[in-house]
Amino acid sequence: MKGPIRYRSTSLEDVSQIEEMEKTYFLEEAFGRRQIRYLLQSPNAIALTAEEGDRSDWAHPPQAGGPAASNGKVLGYIIGLGRRGSSAVRIYTFCVRKDYRLKGIGTSLLQRFERGCQRRGVSNLILEVGEDNSSALEFYKRNGFVEFSSVPGYYSDGTTAVRMRKVITVISRQ
Ligand SMILES: CC(C)(COP(=O)(O)OP(=O)(O)OC[C@H]1O[C@@H](n2cnc3c(N)ncnc32)[C@H](O)[C@@H]1OP(=O)(O)O)[C@@H](O)C(=O)NCCC(=O)NCCS
Repeated sequence: MKGPIRYRSTSLEDVSQIEEMEKTYFLEEAFGRRQIRYLLQSPNAIALTAEEGDRSDWAHPPQAGGPAASNGKVLGYIIGLGRRGSSAVRIYTFCVRKDYRLKGIGTSLLQRFERGCQRRGVSNLILEVGEDNSSALEFYKRNGFVEFSSVPGYYSDGTTAVRMRKVITVISRQ
């Protein structure tokens, strides 16, 4: 890996890289550009990006009023949306580049995401995952998610989705 990893809120500048990763890793189920933008622009969105580098190599940091700095290589992202009138957040998409998996990036993204949810008073995380996606199922179980139902034919190729949830402790906002 080229240097440290920086975790930050996902920005609209990440959309192209996220779109490319969606196409590569989710194929038929990939979110397209418009859907990614829609999710990120929602006031109920919670989205984090893992990016290569910590910007310490900037020779000339961007000046106020100057052009925005372009983002580095996106290694992973997680995008969730709060449900209106509920204390649940649904994880819509979550991915780490293949060459960077099993190095703890997914766990770091999820832990930071959970803290962001807790601060917003969210008490439940929910998601769907393909019953044949053993690595993600393993990952979620290891991170405290439990299965609560399944949806046959949820995915376009007919695969069943396993629905999982995790109850998290709310951090009171005073
Ligand atoms: C799920 C995903 C985001 C996890 O990211 P990651 O950076 O590889 O996760 P971590 O390195 O933090 O993994 C932590 C733990 O998850 C489990 N895990 C992750 N991938 C696994 C695999 N392929 N096989 C078995 N266990 C796995 C392990 O217990 C691992 O702990 P360990 O390294 O101590 O064994 C990543 O595998 C991914 O992008 N998958 C493809 C996209 C996807 O399926 N997303 C979920 C859609 S719902």
